[in-house]
Amino acid sequence: MAQRKLLLRALAGEVLAVPPVWLMRQAGRYLPEYRATRAQAGDFLKLCYTPELAAEVTLQPIRRFGFDAAILFADILLLPQALGAELWFETGEGPRLSTVTTPADFARLRGKDDIHDRLAPVYQTVRLLTEALPRETALIGFAGAPWTVASYMIAGRGTSDQAPAHALMRADPALFDALMARLTEATVEYLSMQVQAGAEVVKLFDSWAGSLRGEAFRRYAVEPTRAIVAALKARHPGLPVIAFPREAGQGYAGFHKATGADCVALDNSVSADWAAENVQTDGCVQGNLDPRLMVTGGERLAEEARRIVRAFARGPHIFNLGHGITPDADPAHVDALLRAVRG
Ligand code: CP3
Repeated sequence: MAQRKLLLRALAGEVLAVPPVWLMRQAGRYLPEYRATRAQAGDFLKLCYTPELAAEVTLQPIRRFGFDAAILFADILLLPQALGAELWFETGEGPRLSTVTTPADFARLRGKDDIHDRLAPVYQTVRLLTEALPRETALIGFAGAPWTVASYMIAGRGTSDQAPAHALMRADPALFDALMARLTEATVEYLSMQVQAGAEVVKLFDSWAGSLRGEAFRRYAVEPTRAIVAALKARHPGLPVIAFPREAGQGYAGFHKATGADCVALDNSVSADWAAENVQTDGCVQGNLDPRLMVTGGERLAEEARRIVRAFARGPHIFNLGHGITPDADPAHVDALLRAVRG
């Protein structure tokens, strides 16, 4: 029965006449109903930690657009918070965290099995969603990949080049590796609990994979993903995993085989034609429309969407953007996108 869900069929390798579609950040500030529920919650973190409200905003884009998948509403930075980092959001600026740059900071972090009390509301959101979602809609759980999460924990904020994380990697490789190992094992526990609560697919967001090159890419993007996929599949046989090593460029080629991921999500810096020949040959791909087209709309949006559908038509494909939909996107353009993709 579950295999009737289009998203799960694509993840199993089926080539479909019409690809399943969902959008990164589909629950977000571009939707007036999201802004209303967020105001009701008070702030973003309260929204994440209040299961009824987090489930409500997860469902809003499903009701409005009928996407083929819902993604749990949460954030990749809830895991570092559960490990003991302080976390807050500066309005208009983004996340801030207490930093981990010394062995003493690392020693204060909790162990992988001590995260669930804090994360229990997230698991409850998943449970509520399994009851509330339409039967054809797949439920995606997620976490940040260790490198991306470590880059926020080390810098205490988002950075354009992850310089503080690269600096710690060079200055204290033992400490850096210990943090990566803690994040890798905690991510397995966190995602495993999401699956037990009802998530049918999990996605790993490695938003900053693009700043890792050569051996560092293998060691800190490929290897942690491989370890997490292997551990999850051992516990949950058949669980489909989507990996998103954003801006990996040539590194996308071979990523399925190197990590065991069922689907590799592509950002919009790689061409769909290149990816069809060099990545989709190994399995399902997701992507990769430029999110700016959701702001500008028009005939270019429809043309680009159809071009991507055609480029990936000979293999398994999940239609998505190359990165999250932005707050200035027009919800009417999402309707236009769905018409273009679904024909
Ligand atoms: O995709 C979804 O709809 C599911 C929910 C989701 C959020 N964040 C909600 C959110 C997911 C999957 C994420 C992942 C996430 N969070 C990533 C990886 C993906 C990516 O975008 O590269 C990263 C790097 C974060 C960390 C984070 N959270 C940042 C940098 C910010 C601030 C940037 C911004 O857009 O304001 C957030 C906040 C955040 N997470 C918002 C949402 C809807 C905006 C919060 C608000 O309502 O003000």
